Amino acid sequence: MAKSTLSFVCQNCGAAYNRWQGKCESCGEWNTLAEEDTSGSVPVSIRSKRKGRTFALESLSGKTQDAPRLSSGMSELDRVTGGGFVRGSVLLLGGDPGIGKSTLLTQATSLLARAGHRVVYISGEEAVAQVRLRAERLGLSDAPVQLAAETSVEDIVSTLSEGAVPRLIVIDSIQTMWTDTVESAPGTVTQVRASAQALIRFAKKTGAAIILVGHVTKDGQIAGPRVVEHMVDAVMSFEGEGSQQFRILRAVKNRFGPTDEIGVFEMTGLGLREVTNPSELFLSERDLGTPGTAVFAGIEGTRPVLVELQALVAPTSLGTPRRAVVGWDPSRLSMVLAVLEAHCGVKLSGHDVYLNVAGGLRIHEPAADLAAAAALVSSLVNAQLPTDAVYFGEISLSGVVRPVAQTPARLKEAAKLGFQRAVLPESARGEAGGDAGLTLNAVNSLTTLVAEIAARGSRRGESNAPAEKNATPARFRRGEG
Ligand code: TYD
Ligand code: MG
Repeated sequence: MAKSTLSFVCQNCGAAYNRWQGKCESCGEWNTLAEEDTSGSVPVSIRSKRKGRTFALESLSGKTQDAPRLSSGMSELDRVTGGGFVRGSVLLLGGDPGIGKSTLLTQATSLLARAGHRVVYISGEEAVAQVRLRAERLGLSDAPVQLAAETSVEDIVSTLSEGAVPRLIVIDSIQTMWTDTVESAPGTVTQVRASAQALIRFAKKTGAAIILVGHVTKDGQIAGPRVVEHMVDAVMSFEGEGSQQFRILRAVKNRFGPTDEIGVFEMTGLGLREVTNPSELFLSERDLGTPGTAVFAGIEGTRPVLVELQALVAPTSLGTPRRAVVGWDPSRLSMVLAVLEAHCGVKLSGHDVYLNVAGGLRIHEPAADLAAAAALVSSLVNAQLPTDAVYFGEISLSGVVRPVAQTPARLKEAAKLGFQRAVLPESARGEAGGDAGLTLNAVNSLTTLVAEIAARGSRRGESNAPAEKNATPARFRRGEG
């Protein structure tokens, strides 16, 4: 037996230490170190005597029996994987508990099984009866998925080595798996890593695609799938607000496809429904006619997505005003606020600022700057923005509105959904072409946009006042203490 080497392993990132300490120096998390046996999996006696076996070297060209990719039959899932599951690849699906990972995989495996592929679903968390119950609820009981409730990796590998090679194997979840080769308790980093390694080896050897489910908890209590992320071919995260029906599948890492595509689903009483036109969903419950909302024409991967940004700017009662943002980068918000202050005379230091991306979507594009600025100013001056307008453009630190990629796709989507106008960077006007079907309002500096919104605000207040083209934003200082 190998000499037992006990050390303290961070359950979040897998870093090992000789002695216990409160904080992991590698990832900065507190209280994540646990004692584990990290001795090698092969006993020393065998290790020293084992003679290297020779293996055949192969050429790049060669025959593979099946199509290299296996389409899942769910187009939103295929979009994120990059066209289907790759033979012999291992994919990690992460997400908060209860978000719908098991539901998604039950649906995907059932569709594949119905299409005649050998598909295996191993549940380490739920009993067979529970998985059956879910399948029944989803109306998928008839699908010939091979099901088992097992947690021993050795047993799983021997069972699956018999008969035809499965095209897809789901392991739900990797935290519940354990292997004899290491001594640590199930759920620890060492066990998770060793189990994942054994399963990855099986996938590479046989050509079966494997999906590992991994729970992600914020406090790092469960051995983080972090360590597994480096070992697998693709990592996807299933996200969503618990209270909302939308679920977004996002590729975090993908050796065989893009990482910027999203798949959108809606959780219904009958399982997950694919949402092929996300814009309609995100705009379905718009608050028409409320100040502080602007529609952003965004791009997620290759697909345009229209989404509403909601801002609330209110005088603060605190010494340091609050800045809260959901679905967008907080530092991006700070930057837009700073540009508004420095170049447009919009004083926000006495106001609390809240920004929310409707529908639970998370935006990563800088192109959302213009829409965010429009929503913020609209809320501050209490002037509603035109309900038929979309906004996009990046704001530079000098207050210039910079062009962004894929202008025609954004405009086309907006026109398709019945929008009449687009507020966009001046320099993108040429790219838009004459036949966009929208009235284009090109702005080259943020000051212009702020003045336009301010003019709307003053027109609302004094209905007979002439439209001020370059209204000084004096009313922004309203409510400052
Ligand atoms: P589940 O797939 O078990 O989540 P995970 O595997 O990520 O932990 O889904 C859990 C939630 O989904 C549960 O709260 C109930 C809900 N749900 C539905 O709303 N409709 C359905 O048809 C199913 C099967 C689940
Ligand atoms: Mg589950």
